[in-house]
Amino acid sequence: MSISDQIQKVRLEFQSDLESLSSASEVDAADDLRIKYLGRKGLVAHLFGQLGTVSKDERPEMGQILNSLKTKITEQIDGVATFHGNVSKEGIDTDFTLPGDPLPVGSIHPLSQILEEIKSIFIRLGFSVSYGPEIDTEFYNFEALNIPQNHPARDMQDTFYITDEILMRTHTSGTLIHYMETHDPPVRFIGPGRVYRNEDISVRSYCLFHQVEGLYVDSGVTFSELKGTLGYFARELFGQNVKTRFRPSYFPFTEPSAEMDVSCIFCKAKGCSVCKHAGWLEILGCGMVDPEVFKSVKYDTDKWTGYAFGMGIERMAMLKYGVQDIRLFYNGDVRFLRQF
Ligand code: DAH
Repeated sequence: MSISDQIQKVRLEFQSDLESLSSASEVDAADDLRIKYLGRKGLVAHLFGQLGTVSKDERPEMGQILNSLKTKITEQIDGVATFHGNVSKEGIDTDFTLPGDPLPVGSIHPLSQILEEIKSIFIRLGFSVSYGPEIDTEFYNFEALNIPQNHPARDMQDTFYITDEILMRTHTSGTLIHYMETHDPPVRFIGPGRVYRNEDISVRSYCLFHQVEGLYVDSGVTFSELKGTLGYFARELFGQNVKTRFRPSYFPFTEPSAEMDVSCIFCKAKGCSVCKHAGWLEILGCGMVDPEVFKSVKYDTDKWTGYAFGMGIERMAMLKYGVQDIRLFYNGDVRFLRQF
């Protein structure tokens, strides 16, 4: 048989083999075809072997014909393999062995993360967690905290009023009163939550933010206990190498009052733009509860002393995660949130 007859014979045989490959159960048959025609000892290789018997004149043309037959067979077998690979027994055009498209999953908001961390530090120290109302009265937000009408401290916080009496709380300090009214000493709790202030929105301030309030009342509580507890807290949150310092300050509901700074965590207290070259960052207000406050909740001021503190959560998160703009926490941009 001449080589061109042989080529023709292989071509026809391949066509008929291909046609008999009709059902999905014959996926493996495509591989058998590959071996039969394209394998090292396959029919096509055999034909190439025959080329040596062809006259020099005919050889280039036969070679070309053979090459194109090989290409065609390869393409068709590849096509069959892909097609059958995608058809399951039920005839669905899906390959269930491929990895799925990743589902977009959310992340925990950085403010929730830092709040959880703060809560867990204080819970380890024996504090419980209690929440006060976000809509409150002048009494809880100001009066009971020793901030009477016309007191200049009311100007420090631009209040959203709902009526003359009812307001959006400007700080979580009102939770101190709510808690003490309903619990007898000794008490030890933290009160996290949202607070609202009518402030211009900027990189540093927003109309709502979060605070965590804290209170410890017992007999003979001292300022050094306050320092010890808050120092421990700062080291747990920002790292064991962080240093703390207390500066005298003023809050109407504590006496004496202080603000606590931590050594700048960005420049290791060397001085940078975040700490304004001071080497220190203010993180919270605190002090010994003013006896006037105890009187408004009918705690015996001869018997009980205590300390209170309050801190802004956004500020903590900005420091801890190096966030420069407070508004990022509120505009829901997933490119920002995905980083946490
Ligand atoms: N309420 C204060 C503020 O919003 C923070 C604060 C300072 C809370 C001292 C306290 C405290 O409990 O003792 O700025």
